[in-house]
Amino acid sequence: MQLDVFLKQVSLNHALNVLIWHAAQAGIEIAALVRQGALQGVTEKTATTNVQGETQMQLDIRSHEVAIAQLRASAVVAAVLSEEEDKPVMFETLDAPFLVSMDPLDGSSNLAINGVVGSIFSVLPNTGVATQGEQAFLQPGQAQRAALYVMYGPATLLVLSLGQGTHVFTLDHDTASFVLTQQTVEIPPETSEYAINASNQRYWQPAIQRYIDECLQGAEGVRGRDFNMRWCASMVMDVHRILTRGGVFLYPRDNKQPVKAGRLRLLYEANPMSLLVAQAGGESINGLEDVLAIQPTSCHQRVPVLLGSRQEIQRLREYHQQAT
Ligand code: AHG
Ligand code: MN
Ligand code: MN
Ligand code: MN
Repeated sequence: MQLDVFLKQVSLNHALNVLIWHAAQAGIEIAALVRQGALQGVTEKTATTNVQGETQMQLDIRSHEVAIAQLRASAVVAAVLSEEEDKPVMFETLDAPFLVSMDPLDGSSNLAINGVVGSIFSVLPNTGVATQGEQAFLQPGQAQRAALYVMYGPATLLVLSLGQGTHVFTLDHDTASFVLTQQTVEIPPETSEYAINASNQRYWQPAIQRYIDECLQGAEGVRGRDFNMRWCASMVMDVHRILTRGGVFLYPRDNKQPVKAGRLRLLYEANPMSLLVAQAGGESINGLEDVLAIQPTSCHQRVPVLLGSRQEIQRLREYHQQAT
């Protein structure tokens, strides 16, 4: 079943369906660029930095432009917050029903090594951006109407939630359309795999030190079984693995200067991924609280993220409670 047919079946909200279709078109265009690699200058850095102080890749900027053009063309989006722009981009359609917060290209450091990258979109209701300006984006993740990512891997996938389950589509390059290939994603509740950038270990807080220590002890330790570790440095790829075969993905609070709040951005990384994980039966916390319940205070705010299989996330929450 093609994406547009699926959307008509599961959602009566025509405007939302139009928005998702345009985000998917952006994904198809970005997939074509990614596939061209060095032939399209994909592996090149620019001389510019974004609001996070990261050097932008050419494809960070081109993906941003492609996505903005598609979302503008949808005519159902009032404004877009992007990782690559300091301020939200305001459209002429300021009274349109939706706001979009996006990471146009996630994991872009992987471009240089021909690794997997993705695009992440979070759809919020437009609660009045015409009068509130960027404040209108500061809604908790629970308010999201939809979340999706497109993953540019060996196959291009679109993973979508409208708040009733998480669904996977695969791009048919011949017809340039996404086809439903997994109706319902269910994360196994119990698993033995974790993802964390272990080079930050000296900055972690006690709860994470304890959890990872116990995993490393394997069958001889308190967990009584061996654990496996994977880290792709691309949240889309790491979360996709967790949606597929379970495990936990951790980018915890740490003491690393200057941010000390982990690395991931609440409005266009943590929230959409947390909705997709929650709708697949997993959980997502910042340590003590559900990520989806956090009231944002600024557009590019960072947040600790611990997400994945339910039993492991519950254990991590307990370790954080015991450490306070
Ligand atoms: P982006 O490329 O959009 O800036 O995001 C990169 C993020 C995320 O994809 C990944 O999980 C994390 O940064 C990787 O962090 P490390 O560099 O610490 O591995
Ligand atoms: Mn970046
Ligand atoms: Mn990212
Ligand atoms: Mn990015």
